Amino acid sequence: MNLSTPHALQPFWDLTLSAVRADALRIALEWKLFDLLQVPTSAHLIARQLELDPANTGFWLEALWSMDLLQRDERQPPLYRNTPVASDYLRSDATDYCGDAWTFRLRGMRRFGNQLGEQVRAGQPDSQPTDMTTTIDNWTAAARLQIAQEQRAVTVDVALRLTALIPEFSQARRLLDLGGGPGLVAIALVRDNPLLSGEVFDFEKTVEVAAANIQRAGLEQRLSVRGGNLASDPIGDGYDVIWCSSVLHFVPDLPATLAKIHAALRPGGVLISAHAEIPADPEHAQRVMPYYLSMQMLGRHVTEAGGLSDALQQAGFSHIDSYPEVAFAVAPVSVLVARRSAS
Ligand SMILES: C[S@@+](CC[C@H](N)C(=O)[O-])C[C@H]1O[C@@H](n2cnc3c(N)ncnc32)[C@H](O)[C@@H]1O
Repeated sequence: MNLSTPHALQPFWDLTLSAVRADALRIALEWKLFDLLQVPTSAHLIARQLELDPANTGFWLEALWSMDLLQRDERQPPLYRNTPVASDYLRSDATDYCGDAWTFRLRGMRRFGNQLGEQVRAGQPDSQPTDMTTTIDNWTAAARLQIAQEQRAVTVDVALRLTALIPEFSQARRLLDLGGGPGLVAIALVRDNPLLSGEVFDFEKTVEVAAANIQRAGLEQRLSVRGGNLASDPIGDGYDVIWCSSVLHFVPDLPATLAKIHAALRPGGVLISAHAEIPADPEHAQRVMPYYLSMQMLGRHVTEAGGLSDALQQAGFSHIDSYPEVAFAVAPVSVLVARRSAS
């Protein structure tokens, strides 16, 4: 064994260190540090601008430098500036700003982590009624902020790259973005394909966020919204393409929903499903499981690798192409491109 070979416990020490890194980034976002570091700036000036302790500001900036969020020059003391990732995604006036979404994720993981023991011990209380109004309000707030940020920074690009791989997409006329939240995926796909028009479906209140985004994009002639509950309301029919990402976890009856999606496609139509599944090996599973553990404990559908493909086949889909590890916000998803047969 080489002297620098990490100890077997190192991955678990790393867990404790990542808590400090997360806080270094959390306060940087809270204090809009990256807005100040588009131009090379000293720790001393940052401390003055944000009314901080100068010496500890220096250590904090060094920590962010060690996380590849800041570059520093050779001067002593150095000047710091944003790395490309900080400039592109963490500066509050960047087009693809993702800081609120990241902070939301951190808070959610910590809240869940803090009550993990209790949940493992006692389970989810059966008597807890699902308050639909609160659920819909939460989705609507998410559509305005964190889902919109992640769609802009991540999902839209994935959707464009995936649809470029699907031969049917260039000829498609009618699109459904099912559970589309702010609708930015539908907006990007319709912009990408001049033949395409369609609908964004989500809860009535949530889909108002999409309607406002469609109007802002000037696409009212080609995109409309349809409000309702996927579990009980019609989603339309005759679609050539249905995009559905990170939605199926939340439906009460997965086989019934898949049958409904199948029926909503025209014969020969294509479903693009992007949903996390639990990989069969620990190396891949550890990238997915922490994010989906809370959903598993709430009784949501989080299938094991291959489970969703089986369910799609049972619902009548055929010719299923599989992209098992597609980079998505927070954790990879498994993308399945599934067809309703032409006859
Ligand atoms: C995790 S978000 C995913 C949003 C979007 N598809 C994306 O990948 O960015 C889940 C979306 O599904 C919607 N949703 C969940 N259950 C639904 C239901 N029963 N009826 C309609 N929409 C639902 C939520 O309102 C939310 O917009």
